[in-house]
Amino acid sequence: MKPKILITRAVFPDVVDRLSVHFDVESNPADIIFSEAELIEKLQGKDGLFANPADRISAALIQSCPNLKAVCNMAVGYNNVDVAAATAAGIMVTNTPDVLNETTADFGWALLMATARRVTESEHFLRAGKWEKWTYNGFLGADIHGATLGVIGMGRIGQAIARRSLGFDMKVVYHNRTRLSPELEAHANHAQYMSREDVLRNADHVMLVLPYSAAVHHFIAAAELAMMKPTATLINIARGGIVDDAALIAALKQGQIAAAGLDVFENEPAFNADFLQLTNVVLTPHIASASEPTRRAMADCAANNLIAALSGKTPPNLLNSDVLKK
Ligand code: GLV
Repeated sequence: MKPKILITRAVFPDVVDRLSVHFDVESNPADIIFSEAELIEKLQGKDGLFANPADRISAALIQSCPNLKAVCNMAVGYNNVDVAAATAAGIMVTNTPDVLNETTADFGWALLMATARRVTESEHFLRAGKWEKWTYNGFLGADIHGATLGVIGMGRIGQAIARRSLGFDMKVVYHNRTRLSPELEAHANHAQYMSREDVLRNADHVMLVLPYSAAVHHFIAAAELAMMKPTATLINIARGGIVDDAALIAALKQGQIAAAGLDVFENEPAFNADFLQLTNVVLTPHIASASEPTRRAMADCAANNLIAALSGKTPPNLLNSDVLKK
């Protein structure tokens, strides 16, 4: 008998087909968002879970699914999964690192450029039929070239973002839980290590790329926004909850910072509607990794992890190796 798995949300049909070779698959091509109770019901008797980053895999869910052996998240971030509860229950948890580094770094730059140079705001003006003449001061923005880029969270994606800044003659300052080796700093456009506060004070453009955990909830709140330059932009491609969105809205309204570019939000997809009243914010619906090849690579990576986990092998991207001792 094949092991049984649940794929919680719609995914590339060929990935479902590949998983069906190995497993008895329950998939969700209609892409219905199941409640926790529905997920628990569907997971009864299932050995594996192919999870979407929007699924909340809580301790309560884990404890209610005694057959579960592996949770394979189709994302590099895994704050949606209670890894400690999974480890305690002997369940392997995996993510999809590396395959999305370059695509996500590209998008960080897309959002930074759009925000600093007011791309979406000016396009809305044009589309609304308001463009009557060229003006010397229409949509003046901030320069990227020659500016100081601040990266908070200098993991693999942060480093890929910093490397790209070389072409814009930028200086890079960064903050990370641990300082990079001199070799990695040199490779990241000679990035200079600083405290979070000094990055915020010095950077013209601040890019957030750190993973979410309770320890960094509202890492950027009113006090931190007050440290930034009034001409600065703030870009968040990391996770909702790292920024205090209400404090950011107040800072954008008061001109405490110039602009923000946000791909992630607190409580997404139900984000704070006050953002919609602001012209100095660029808003995208959590798409930083969304290129065709990269989303395919992420789905393949999650599938490979699930196939390995349920065939007695160590999955390539195991997050909780302690589970192997059980
Ligand atoms: C997307 O946000 C991811 O964590 O991969």
